[in-house]
Amino acid sequence: MSSEGGHRDVVRRQFGKQAARWEQYLSYLDSQDVVEWISGHLELRPHFSVLDVATGTGLLARAIAPHVHSVVGLDATPEMLDAGRKQARADVLGNVVFEEGEAEHLPYPDEAFDLVTSRIAMHHFPDPLGPAREMARVCRPGGHVAIIDITSSDNAEVAAAHNRLERLRDPSHARSMHIAELRQMAEATGLDTVRTSVADVEVHVETWMDLTDTPQDARVTIRQAMEADLAAGAPTGMRPSCKDGELVFSHAWVILVGRKP
Ligand SMILES: C[S@@+](CC[C@H](N)C(=O)[O-])C[C@H]1O[C@@H](n2cnc3c(N)ncnc32)[C@H](O)[C@@H]1O
Repeated sequence: MSSEGGHRDVVRRQFGKQAARWEQYLSYLDSQDVVEWISGHLELRPHFSVLDVATGTGLLARAIAPHVHSVVGLDATPEMLDAGRKQARADVLGNVVFEEGEAEHLPYPDEAFDLVTSRIAMHHFPDPLGPAREMARVCRPGGHVAIIDITSSDNAEVAAAHNRLERLRDPSHARSMHIAELRQMAEATGLDTVRTSVADVEVHVETWMDLTDTPQDARVTIRQAMEADLAAGAPTGMRPSCKDGELVFSHAWVILVGRKP
């Protein structure tokens, strides 16, 4: 793993490339089912001030906005933020702002938000406990922190295989954790009554690799690993299958919602 600064450059480069495609991929990323599943666990209120950390183009921030007072979407990649601003203008959403910043050093005072969220970003942080602590810090007492992420197996070998393929596809992937690790991390920030909900999200392999512009040699390795898994070879932890002649796999998403005492 590179240093924190080095990894941040990789994140900016990867998502700088992806920004233009992110909003065009009407896929699992903005599936209504996924968004509704998440929103259903957030207990949104009209007076809420919400912070969405590593918001990207603000897919979650924009889905939350109509139900709350205001949303700030923070991200490290300017191109993702620009795409989010453009879409928020197109959607005539006047209560979402996009700000550049680092999840490790949130530029907000303590207890500033009623709800702090982060969706499919923890696995990009080299040391996720730091951003998780920051999320808890800026949440008001009695408020909630919601971490939504893609998880890996509780079998270390299978989890390593899964994370290796994810990194081949996108070098900004640091590590997906098992649910128990995510829960431990959330509790280590001082949150209590952490509730979890899980969902399988089906992903089309080629579209997934198109989004990140994965190089050809890596694409071949990934396909081969999944096909071998499908033929009862070494498990990849990605649960591949064949659907209408196409290779697909299942991402195991979790939402953890903790209350700040
Ligand atoms: C997979 S995208 C998720 C975007 C959005 N949350 C969503 O659900 O569509 C991950 C985002 O995390 C951002 N990111 C990664 N590391 C970050 C960091 N240390 N601080 C802030 N943003 C970061 C990237 O720029 C990227 O936009």
